Parts: sequence; C-alpha cells; structure tokens
Amino acid sequence: MKIRKVLVTGGAGYIGTHCCVELLQSGYDVVCADNFSNSSAIAIERVEQITGMKVTYRETDLCDKAEVRALFDEYVFDGAIHFAGHKAVGESIEQPLRYYGNNLLSLITLCEVLAENRCKNVVFSSSAAVYSSINKPPYDEEDSIDPCNPYGRTKVMIETILHDLHASDPDWNISILRYFNPVGAHPSGLIGEDPSGTPNNLMPYIAQVAIGRLAELKVFGDDYDTPDGSCVRDFIHVVDLAKGHLAALRKLEDRPGCMTHNIGTGHGISVLELIEAFKRGSGVSVPYSIAPRRAGDMPVNFAATDKALKELGWKAELGLDEMVRDTWNWQTKNPTGYQD
Ligand code: WQD
Repeated sequence: MKIRKVLVTGGAGYIGTHCCVELLQSGYDVVCADNFSNSSAIAIERVEQITGMKVTYRETDLCDKAEVRALFDEYVFDGAIHFAGHKAVGESIEQPLRYYGNNLLSLITLCEVLAENRCKNVVFSSSAAVYSSINKPPYDEEDSIDPCNPYGRTKVMIETILHDLHASDPDWNISILRYFNPVGAHPSGLIGEDPSGTPNNLMPYIAQVAIGRLAELKVFGDDYDTPDGSCVRDFIHVVDLAKGHLAALRKLEDRPGCMTHNIGTGHGISVLELIEAFKRGSGVSVPYSIAPRRAGDMPVNFAATDKALKELGWKAELGLDEMVRDTWNWQTKNPTGYQD
C-alpha cells in the first residue's frame, strides 16, 4: 500500500525535525507527536520556515495510551516513524529505570494503538549501541548483539518486541534502523542539535565549547587500543540519516516484513580526529583535556553499510567537512539553541 500520512513521534527532536523536512519536501503528509521533554516547539516552526509548509503537531506523552489514542481519533495514519525516547548512554547508566520505563512503554503503547487502527507500517530508531564489542568492525546487521549500557539494552529489547510482533502477525511491516553517530545540521542553519542541559554527546559538546558556552571538552580516555588512543565512531550527517528513513519508508510499501539496516557511513573517525576536523572547519579553537574513560563506551563502533545500499538503495553522501560546516553554521546562528 502507498504510505502518505505519517506519524512522527519525537518529531520536534534533532533527528525528528530533519526527517520531517525530508518527508514534507518529498510530498508526505506529516503529524508530529512530541512531549517536548528534550525538544522545543520552536524547532517545528523552523521546519515550517524551511519547507514553507504547515506542520501539524500534538504535545503527546507516548506512554499515555489515552493521549496516543486521541491522536488516532483525529488522524488516519498509513505509517509511523518512532524517534521518541531517551538516548544518552551515560545518563542511562545513572537512570536505568527511567530509560526502560520510557523507551519500552512508549514503543509498546504506540504499537498497541497502531494495531487497534490497523496501521502496521513502522520505522524504528534503533542504535549501533546494540552491537557487542567482541565483533570485528565494521559491524554488520548479522553481528552479535550485546549492548554494554541500559540505553543500548532498551534498543535490543524493542527490536525483539518488534520481531515478535511481526512473527505474531505477518501483516506488520517493520524497518529497524541502527543509527551510528548522528551529527551536523540542516544547511539552512535553522534546525540542529539542541540538547537540554549539558550535552551528553560529543559533537554538540565540541560546538558549545567552540561557541564559548562551555569552557573545555573532556576527552573520555586516550588509552584505548585505537590509532590515536581515543574511541572511534561512525559519524553520519543527520540529513543523510533523515534520507535513510525515507528510503526505509518507501521499502515498507513492498511489504518486506521485519528488516534491519545499519545507517552509517562505513568510516571510523576518532574523537581526537573529530576535534581536529572541527578546528579546521570552524577556524576556532576547541580546548580539551584528557579525562578517565566513560562507563559504557565501546572503543570502536562503525558500520558495514552494504545492506542499506543493496536493499534500500540508500548510502550516506555527506562527509566530515559538511558535518563540521553544518554543525558550526547551526551553532553560530543559534548560540543558545532554540531558546532566546
Ligand atoms: C562518542 C565518543 C565518548 C562526549 C551514543 C548512542 C548512539 C547515538 C549517539 C542516538 C565516545 C566521547 C563524548 C564528551 C567525549 N544515540 N565523548 N567527551 O556514546 O558513541 O553513541 O550517542 O542517536 O546510539 O550509543 O556518542 O557522542 O556520547 O560519544 O570524549 O563530552 O565521544 O567517550 O567515545 P556514543 P557520544
């Protein structure tokens, strides 16, 4: 069936807004549901500015079945993209119950209400954090799964729930996308990453040091078994990631069942390399010091990307220079993010 009207949960968030831009510009009809716990309604206004189109949104707690049902009473959806969830590795170690409660219950509630409304097309935002560090990178979708933090474990549990859901009813068409490390911003500089409080993730932290909001970056460990001793990650431009969602959504129209794809570039960049690239691209210094390792970190994590190209016809097109350029453009145009 043709998918036209899409529910985007977490649609006001970093990846959600970039996905809404691509969906709207590709002719989809979009409704955003977000509880704004880690996002701003201003971001939705910026999506309207970029696309010139009205964005319908509803403040929704996805753990509240009555609120989710109210969405479906108001709209008839052909599919859903589920971004909503807590996503910081370090935070998940300190607050496991908050992560299990929110991430699992929101997914289960969403799928129950989707089933009640006979809407069985879902794209799920999973993570490279599911992979076991015993694998030899680049990680492919068949590699062993053994996350080393509660955040990653919520993703594995949800993937399992989705596989069981499809096994119980083959009418479900499910795309599980394992993101590596999303960075960058829309080239307009109108939307970008604006984490609440002090950033957990590397790139927004670098950008806030560069703009002067934070004093210096702490590099969590330079004694790993990697070329320069710092961790290696697969940084992917958020616009490429958003386009990967559209490729997955189109694939669901072929009724593929339950499928899993890595969304990364296939290249590993170290923490120290990213810092140097940021300095080169922005022309600004990024003071940093070496700190102890962070619990839950994997030394190396980057993607094998053949499957997404073969089955979804998708591959990343933007490189490190564009990631740095667009991050810095967003940060300089929005020194305090979406807040005035
Ligand atoms: C990257 C590297 C840190 C901050 C997680 C999730 C993943 C995705 C992105 C959702 C690590 C180091 C970081 C800092 C540092 N989540 N670092 N100083 O943990 O690879 O991935 O977030 O989309 O699914 O697993 O991302 O950016 O937190 O860390 O040295 O202040 O940067 O130790 O090696 P991570 P990250």
